[in-house]
Amino acid sequence: MALTEEEIQEIKDYVKAYPNKRGACVEALKIVQRHDGWVSDRHLREVAHLLEMTPDELDGVATFYSLIFREPVGRHVILICDSVVCWIMGYEDLLRHLKSVLGIDLGETTADGRFTLLPVACLGACDHAPALMIDEDLHIDLTKEKLDEILARYE
Ligand code: FES
Repeated sequence: MALTEEEIQEIKDYVKAYPNKRGACVEALKIVQRHDGWVSDRHLREVAHLLEMTPDELDGVATFYSLIFREPVGRHVILICDSVVCWIMGYEDLLRHLKSVLGIDLGETTADGRFTLLPVACLGACDHAPALMIDEDLHIDLTKEKLDEILARYE
């Protein structure tokens, strides 16, 4: 499916704020993702055209940022911190629990499309490790019990 008129207009509005169109590339990708949940190859090519970039240049940006999804994801994306303080503070137990409750491995989406589980580098909440994000929400000081309660809030 092609970019919608609304997406194109939002990107064009954003581009106006930049002396160089490509300066808006991250925001343009975020606009597409906000509308479609992820950035398909076709959308990437169209955005690259709007920003006068090559698809490869834009893909390099998209794949650099772990919060830009280049494959379809579930309704909610769980980003579990996979860095040293969280490792020390119980990451493995938490991950094992998540995998078992959701029935998926890292990089996978539940059969009902509810959750995608991805690793991410330090979330900057090391003093409250272990931590993870679900969509835009940061969850800290996690235990398996606390995690079960948190998951139940996401339909
Ligand atoms: S190491 Fe996990 S939040 Fe920093």
